[in-house]
Amino acid sequence: MNFELTEEHLAVQAAARDFAQTELLPGVIERDEHQKFPTEQVRKMGELGFLGMMVDPRYGGGGMDTVSYVLAMEEISKVDASASVVMSVNNSLVCWGIEKFGTEEQKQKYLTKLATGEIIGAFCLSEPEAGSDATSQRTTAEDMGDYYLLNGTKNWITNGSTASVYLVIAQTYPEKGHRGINALIVERGMEGFTVGLKENKLGIRGSDTHSLMFSDVKVPKENRIGEDGFGFKFAMQTLAGGRIGIASQALGIASGAMELALKYAKERKAFGVEIAKHQAIQFKLADMATNIEAARLLCLQAAYDKDAHRDYSMSGAMAKLFASKVAMETTVEAVQIHGGYGFVKEYHVERLMRDAKITQIYEGTSEIQKIVISRELLK
Ligand code: CAA
Ligand code: FAD
Repeated sequence: MNFELTEEHLAVQAAARDFAQTELLPGVIERDEHQKFPTEQVRKMGELGFLGMMVDPRYGGGGMDTVSYVLAMEEISKVDASASVVMSVNNSLVCWGIEKFGTEEQKQKYLTKLATGEIIGAFCLSEPEAGSDATSQRTTAEDMGDYYLLNGTKNWITNGSTASVYLVIAQTYPEKGHRGINALIVERGMEGFTVGLKENKLGIRGSDTHSLMFSDVKVPKENRIGEDGFGFKFAMQTLAGGRIGIASQALGIASGAMELALKYAKERKAFGVEIAKHQAIQFKLADMATNIEAARLLCLQAAYDKDAHRDYSMSGAMAKLFASKVAMETTVEAVQIHGGYGFVKEYHVERLMRDAKITQIYEGTSEIQKIVISRELLK
């Protein structure tokens, strides 16, 4: 593993940092409070190439490596995790899934628009009774010859009301278990497809999370991704890379909180000195910095594995498991360092603390990451 970032990596990192500070920071508190989707900011992210970073330039993407993606995700998540989850889902689940497994027609029709941010996508695996236990899909995609008849409910879907394209996982042959599952590209506006109410959440409140209902939706056969019955493996392989994105989101939330805590500790005085002069505060900062550095190295390791075409399901799971724990611990301590000011919205750290929690839940809970890691170890 090469620890040196290239000129290109540093340029991407600087561009993401600049975008986060100038475009995301103003208004982030208000968007969180009013659960307002960052529409204008996401549009600009598309223009700057942050929504299809790793997609081949032939399909309108940036042709960058996963390391660049991790660096950009960290910078954007330092400021606005609601914006970075849009970026993560679009890049590493939707674009990657279609680019890796889609047909040329699907790439021309959907990927070219998704990669430039002209439209955004959603990834729909979870159901009311199939979260961690993802093979228990109740949504059905009945084979009707030249189309699938889609029926069921998905819940917790990120970009639920803003997406134009939805990758929907559904059961075609229940008797075959996970080998009977398919992945279909569903378009917004297909008859029988409705978007449910928006969830009122603890964190990432700017992100639109919805349930989706499918009632006799006719999805053309050419919208199936991969071979008949490939849908569950499609979901698992796609999520393996998605977890690198969420790990970097957690890393960014942690490092954003640490930067704020460090600054505040040098400004705030108590007992006649800056609180940074008290060893109890110094030790909190030392622990934060050490944990964040370890989380960053795990994220970069997983990214290097992916770029080197090595198996990255275990390193991605380790990065997500560890970085999300660090995000929780760091944000709690950042609030503590801010004292009472940490408990109010103006100082940002309370939002980062609320946002951190989701990184231990979505794209596989921490317990699921441990299942993935231990199965690899015991193989
Ligand atoms: N790559 C390829 N295939 C894989 C795989 C991988 N990484 N992981 C599993 N598979 C295959 C297995 O080989 C197996 O196939 P075969 O029987 O043909 O060998 C098949 O998938 C089923 O695997 P398991 O028997 O291991 O299945 P399981 O029921 O024990 O579940 C699990 C495994 C890892 C727990 C899985 O269900 C899982 O990942 N659950 C969590 C779901 C999740 O992460 N949801 C996220 C939703 S998206 C989201 O959250 C987005 C967002 O918030 C922004
Ligand atoms: P459950 O699976 O019911 O788990 C409950 C608890 O039991 C957890 O602590 C879990 O770790 C534990 N548990 C379950 N099984 C085991 C086991 N075998 N061993 C040990 N512990 C276990 N899904 C999508 O498909 N697309 C999205 O875009 C998306 N976005 C989301 C956005 C938000 C804000 C949220 C909250 C969720 C989102 N999800 C999305 C769903 C998310 O992936 C699931 O919530 C997650 O996978 C957990 O599923 P569950 O909520 O059903 O919890």
